[in-house]
Amino acid sequence: MSDELTLTEPKDTLPATGEPLLTAENLTMHFPVYGGFPFKRKVGAVKAVDGVDLQVFPGESFGLVGESGCGKSTTGRMLTRLLEPTDGRITYRGQDITRAGRKQLAPIRSEIQMIFQDPYSSLNPRQTVGKIISAPMEINGIEPPGGREARVRELLEIVGLNPEHFNRFPHEFSGGQRQRIGVARALALEPKLIVADEPVSALDVSIQAQVVNLLQDVQKELGIAFVFIAHDLAIVRHFSQRLAVMYLGKVVEVGDRDSLYNAPRHPYTHALLSAVPEASLHDDDAPQRERIRLTGDVPSPINPPSGCRFRTRCWKAQDVCATEEPPLVQLSGNRDGHLTACHFPEDGDALSSGKEIVMDEALRRLEK
Ligand SMILES: Nc1ncnc2c1ncn2[C@@H]1O[C@H](COP(=O)(O)OP(=O)(O)OP(=O)(O)O)[C@@H](O)[C@H]1O
Ligand code: SF4
Ligand SMILES: [Mg+2]
Repeated sequence: MSDELTLTEPKDTLPATGEPLLTAENLTMHFPVYGGFPFKRKVGAVKAVDGVDLQVFPGESFGLVGESGCGKSTTGRMLTRLLEPTDGRITYRGQDITRAGRKQLAPIRSEIQMIFQDPYSSLNPRQTVGKIISAPMEINGIEPPGGREARVRELLEIVGLNPEHFNRFPHEFSGGQRQRIGVARALALEPKLIVADEPVSALDVSIQAQVVNLLQDVQKELGIAFVFIAHDLAIVRHFSQRLAVMYLGKVVEVGDRDSLYNAPRHPYTHALLSAVPEASLHDDDAPQRERIRLTGDVPSPINPPSGCRFRTRCWKAQDVCATEEPPLVQLSGNRDGHLTACHFPEDGDALSSGKEIVMDEALRRLEK
């Protein structure tokens, strides 16, 4: 395997200190469900995100992880205010932006950017790369010193593309190159925060690492804070200093990378960390550790289980788990800021070594 496919070493854990850049309190998104005949009325709600608290500090990379449908994208879209929450509060640099209108959001829009999962649908096929990348400057009426074209060339260079290609169209680029264009567009206004929603999962595995490394360089060199959304823990381990694990619209565990990977206290985090590809179960060389197989489907977010939402799949569940929702708190023995929501947490005695975490075969090959 060539060097360029190797993920660079994870960066040191940054202390989550000082004033947070972005704070979400009780962040909630209930999508209404309509039914009935002949007159449609609201018959329920998809509780996509249900009371999430999180903080993102300047310059840090914060990971948001969980299975499909747990509410990661909805959370990301609320943080960037592409979606207005049904409840809760979002504070950006001390300013409440939860219900801020267009005008109030205008100066903040340039500081918070989003990178989307699909580099094919997120770029307008009829616009040149130069037009796509300069659009945020145009919309915000920003004229950088030297002009927009010079800035586009500079941005293309930063993301590793040929600056002379600004007149080309998206279809002339590969998937990985298109995602680089998306990164350049997100950087155009020198943001302070980028929410990257599964930025590499649509890419061929051979180029995932290159794009992750680019994002990591951008984060480090330009000091931009990232919310990095992913469904697997392996990628996030390389990119994020702190992370939150979501399950069915709730954060079940949050903490710094080392504490969370080496001593997961929530059974769901433990299960995610110990997930291994089928092949490795029969591989004598694979690391020997306790392995947990998550069984059963994720329940519907329209009618989530009472108490702890993970209880229908949890091997440790007891009666109280059905009646009392466990609060997200710091358990004894945990590092500062490592919070867990569970009535019967795991011991946290190095259940899985960070080096052995593998979520799928493709990433396993990548990590090797
Ligand atoms: N506009 C919407 N209207 C109704 N339900 C929605 C809407 N958007 C998302 N949902 C539902 O909200 C829940 C959370 O969706 P979301 O896309 O945030 O999950 P996710 O964690 O990003 O999943 P994935 O890993 O598949 O991207 C899902 O059950 C989804 O079907
Ligand atoms: S609260 Fe109960 S059901 Fe939920 S994760 Fe902990 S032990 Fe399992
Ligand atoms: Mg998503």
